[in-house]
Amino acid sequence: MKIAIINGPNLNLLGKREPEVYGNITFESFFETLKSQYPTLELSYFQSNIEGELIDKIQEVGFTFDGIILNAAAYTHTSVGIGDAVKAITTPVIEVHISNTFARETFRHQSFISPNAKGIIIGFGLKSYELALQSFL
Ligand code: DQA
Repeated sequence: MKIAIINGPNLNLLGKREPEVYGNITFESFFETLKSQYPTLELSYFQSNIEGELIDKIQEVGFTFDGIILNAAAYTHTSVGIGDAVKAITTPVIEVHISNTFARETFRHQSFISPNAKGIIIGFGLKSYELALQSFL
């Protein structure tokens, strides 16, 4: 089973970015742990701070992979383009967020991803990604 994890802007700073909100583990080390826990899955990881690169990646994997776990980060709340890309593809997308966006500023309550996501997992820290993975299994 081929699953792509796609992370949006500033998530390359996990581990040092607002650790009280996002924790102190880098995504790279979390990803290594995840791969060792699910050795039979073909897991890939892509991160970009650039909206178009995220759209390119969604299009690239979105017709052949079995699942996409997408944390579009701040673009969740602003990007019609990423929302349209999620709608355009056939691979199911689980939207994830590390923090509980509904317990934060009101601008984080809006998502352009949610209407076309298969499901949404929000607020469980990095565990959100693992829960999304399990939902594909
Ligand atoms: C986030 C929540 C977003 O509001 C924020 O812009 C992020 C991270 C999360 O995973 O909690 O960068 O997507």
